[in-house]
Amino acid sequence: MEALITLLPGDGIGPDVTVGARRVLQAVADKNGHRFEFQEALMGGIAIDETGDPLPDATRAACEASDAVLLGAVGGPKWSDPKAPVRPEQGLLELRALLGVYANLRPVKIYPELASVSPLKAELLEGVDLLVVRELTGGIYFGAKTRDADSASDLCTYHTHEVERIVRVAARLAAARRNSLCSVDKANVLETSRLWREVTDRVMATEFPEIELETLLVDAAAMHLLSRPGSFDVIVTENMFGDILTDEASMLAGSMGMLPSASIGDAKRGLYEPIHGSAPDIAGRGIANPCGAIASAALLLRHSLDLEEEAAAIEAAIAAAISGGNRTADIATENERAISTDEMTDEIIRCLS
Ligand code: IPM
Ligand code: MN
Repeated sequence: MEALITLLPGDGIGPDVTVGARRVLQAVADKNGHRFEFQEALMGGIAIDETGDPLPDATRAACEASDAVLLGAVGGPKWSDPKAPVRPEQGLLELRALLGVYANLRPVKIYPELASVSPLKAELLEGVDLLVVRELTGGIYFGAKTRDADSASDLCTYHTHEVERIVRVAARLAAARRNSLCSVDKANVLETSRLWREVTDRVMATEFPEIELETLLVDAAAMHLLSRPGSFDVIVTENMFGDILTDEASMLAGSMGMLPSASIGDAKRGLYEPIHGSAPDIAGRGIANPCGAIASAALLLRHSLDLEEEAAAIEAAIAAAISGGNRTADIATENERAISTDEMTDEIIRCLS
């Protein structure tokens, strides 16, 4: 198969880890007779520095013309001045809206060998295999904002069709897993959450009666994620709750550096990114964990290119590299030697069956 993949290395450790993901994709292409063409474009803080715009027109056009987009990370202290007219993060929100990728899939799988790296007790982590489906193009991140000298506001809006489509994505994914869906809202306080719950109940009862539906308030969900993480299959929730709960859930896996994400919509083209940020403190030192970016490349193959076997092979290679004892600094315990970003990538490529 032939595919055009746009790489947006972005800021901080973004460039460090996207190099690894690209090398793994190239190795998969060579092995299986595919032809992936890669093009790089500016995005985030580096794009602000070079063009004044976090998502320049050339980057929009490149992303729209490609089969899939792989992003490293955006942001950093250099662009964090609250008075700055533009921020790197704006570019990411615009890109998600431009590509129509309203469903953000964040799988949390535990590598048994990393149980000791997680702050949670190992016995709580047994069997944890959950998928958070975060609504990505609506809610408070996209509402109108106001600001005057001593007040500020952010508007949170959801429409019925936005809730319907994300619940359908989550329910179909649950049907292919363990048939259980947990919807998270704050329906005891927020009107948007009352709409969310009403629509979710209706869609699930009429279209997915075979899937077990649980509903949790977001504050309780934050607690249950730590007290019984193994009981969750698919969790569906709105934009901001999903943002917060997935950072929390990443600690189950020991390090944010391990986790990938896929942002998809109604088209095949998707946006793939590790869930970690730009980690400016370790940027450019060659020590960042490339596993999240490489696992995101696997999701790219699965969801945008329909290459399930190749995706599974990458995931198996990451697992094999981990069980072979390879550790970047974020997942190394005291007595373990930490290897570099490139060495970890080499190991994963070596483990590709
Ligand atoms: C994420 C990030 C982004 C978000 C930021 C960088 C805009 O935190 O992907 O979770 O809030 O969605
Ligand atoms: Mn986040």
